[in-house]
Amino acid sequence: MKLDVVTIFPEYLQPLRAALLGRAIERGLIEIGVHDLRDWTYDVHRAVDDAPYGGGPGMVMKPQVWGEALDTVCTERSRLVVPTPAGTPFTQTMARAYAEEEHLVFACGRYEGIDQRVFDDAARRMPVDEVSIGDYVLVGGEAAVLVMVEAVVRLLPGVLGNPVSAEQDSFSDGLLEGPSYTRPEVWRDLPVPDVLRSGNHAHIDRWRRDQALERTYHRRPDLLERLGEADLDARDRAV
Ligand code: ADE
Repeated sequence: MKLDVVTIFPEYLQPLRAALLGRAIERGLIEIGVHDLRDWTYDVHRAVDDAPYGGGPGMVMKPQVWGEALDTVCTERSRLVVPTPAGTPFTQTMARAYAEEEHLVFACGRYEGIDQRVFDDAARRMPVDEVSIGDYVLVGGEAAVLVMVEAVVRLLPGVLGNPVSAEQDSFSDGLLEGPSYTRPEVWRDLPVPDVLRSGNHAHIDRWRRDQALERTYHRRPDLLERLGEADLDARDRAV
């Protein structure tokens, strides 16, 4: 998979080359390009923004600069992803869909956003998603790109050491993951639950499922409401 990011703060995207993502690059599983938007400016000030039509606070990023940048970076096989608090919420389902893409291009806006015609124009040639990572406002899209890229890349075949970890994630069955424990058996007077040391795998699976249901009920009741009857077994309904 190829990932490109266009931004006025290329150094902000350095973490894309660290840890799990860095290893995925070294192993040739992904290729990442980070581009400075100002490379497509021609004036001495390298201006990327201008005052908004209609008035109001802040500045809007200029369409000419973005248009040329995207003409250079995108191909006919790209999907353009624009992080914005005004976007569709990013979910695990979207991460899974993005993991199937050949080329993702992220356009990081700052200030009050990017001239809408940039996306209307791009949408004539490629799919364009305006995406939010949560109901809060960041200074720009860069941190949101780090979040989305990490969520997508860990799903690519060969990236995680143990592929079962991705399959058993929170959200993979529509529930939050329950608690985990490791040695020692008792730590600061707190014991590991007996069932996990019982060796009875049917009981362990049932206990984990009950913990996931209980945690989801308390922390994210909206997720439980979205589960269909078919996603719940007879024991689940009793919990
Ligand atoms: N840019 C600013 N806030 C954002 C958010 N919540 N999600 C994605 N991009 C953003």
